[in-house]
Amino acid sequence: MEDVKKDSWGSNFGFLLAAVGSAVGLGNIWGFPYKMGRNGGGAFLIIYLFLILIVGFAVMLGELVIGRKTGMGPVGAYKKLSKKYAAIGYMGIISGFLILSFYSVLGGMVMKYMFSFFISMFSQDYFVGITSASFFSNFIINGWEMIVYCFLFLLITTIIVMRGISKGIEKFTKIAMPALGVLLVAIILFVLFQENAIEGLKFMFKPAFSVYSASSDIGFFTVLKTAAGQMFFSLSLGMGCMMTYGSFLKKDTNLEKNALIIPIADSIVAIMAGMVVMPAVFAYHLEPSAGPSLLFVSLHEVFVNGMTGFTGSFIGFMFYLLVFIAAITSSISLLEVCISYINDKNEENHKHKGSKIPQIVISIIVLVIGIPVALDGLGSPGATISFQPFGYSWLDFYDLISEGILMPVGALVMSLIIGWGFKTKIIKEEVEDGQLFKLKGFIFWDICFKIIVPITMIIIIFAQLQDFGIIK
Ligand code: TRP
Repeated sequence: MEDVKKDSWGSNFGFLLAAVGSAVGLGNIWGFPYKMGRNGGGAFLIIYLFLILIVGFAVMLGELVIGRKTGMGPVGAYKKLSKKYAAIGYMGIISGFLILSFYSVLGGMVMKYMFSFFISMFSQDYFVGITSASFFSNFIINGWEMIVYCFLFLLITTIIVMRGISKGIEKFTKIAMPALGVLLVAIILFVLFQENAIEGLKFMFKPAFSVYSASSDIGFFTVLKTAAGQMFFSLSLGMGCMMTYGSFLKKDTNLEKNALIIPIADSIVAIMAGMVVMPAVFAYHLEPSAGPSLLFVSLHEVFVNGMTGFTGSFIGFMFYLLVFIAAITSSISLLEVCISYINDKNEENHKHKGSKIPQIVISIIVLVIGIPVALDGLGSPGATISFQPFGYSWLDFYDLISEGILMPVGALVMSLIIGWGFKTKIIKEEVEDGQLFKLKGFIFWDICFKIIVPITMIIIIFAQLQDFGIIK
């Protein structure tokens, strides 16, 4: 029997870059701006930030603590805490497979746009004679192309993850995250100088508190639920992703500080991404609430018909490159969760994890699960397959099971286990050395894990079920 020497982060800074890389992704660049714009702008932002403070921060710390304490991904970790909690771990792994499969389809689409704009820099008539909307719809109903791009995206993700934690993920994010920062700032500066751009900022930030009122067609409950769902997805919480990353942390790192930095960095990037997307959309008189097609159709329109020529192609390429980098640093964290299951098993059996074959098998399974998402063209008519589970597109269906049900339930049970099962002791033990806030007896954490997080999660799950029509 050979003892396994566990891979770990080279430094805490490397971990932070990777964790922020996991958090910053399509959720920030694509989801956040339009959800904020639709749900009252500043009025949404206030709730979002407040939720981070009272829920996100605690769930983040909870995951990091459980991860580092047990040194395992969700299945191994919950099993180690108690056999009876194992199911929560499995729920996390299932979410991982579902999210990664549709995330890879979306990531593949980003790659297609990135390549197209790259080509158009040299071949000026590449987009001539086709509208942004038909470029998009022709692409997404082309099943083979969708699958090939999804495959490519997953292949890159797999190669990075197979190289390991410090040599693969950490090394990649150390280059990717600064690059992302530079690109983001450069594009913000460019976009803000376009005419009318200021309208985009107004749309995003102007607090429309009227959305809270029952008489508006949105209402406080919807804003709260949207903000909460967005927060969990954007911070990579609720399925053991941060737990897995935390399992590679050394004992001397300050977990409270990390749990604070990750959400702050993620929110800053989300707001900055909004400052690219919304001003661009307003400068070229497009619809800010286009929803999912915003990132593809609307911005394509901006680059091709708004900016035009080489500038448009170049900025377009840079923009999709940025989105691509953000998506890859997130997908590697999702794949790491799926793989943690095998690593944990090996560790339990004291087996050396030499073979890479199980990792490849996992990526193939993800690809297979993603095929229906790629083939139904995000639910658009004329796609290769037209069967839709319960009337949802496959992407929405996977999203509903994971983000809608498994993840909020996972977060609820985790906080109950920490708060009531362990009486928050598990937190106290792990953070004692580097306690950031000398709050007497950890009162803040006690209240968070015992009361605030569970109540908020129950409200969210209730609103979610109501949305699906499961309860009235
Ligand atoms: N947070 C990423 C984004 O905003 C996506 C992501 C990565 C994720 N890992 C996750 C979402 C785990 C939920 C759970 O795009």
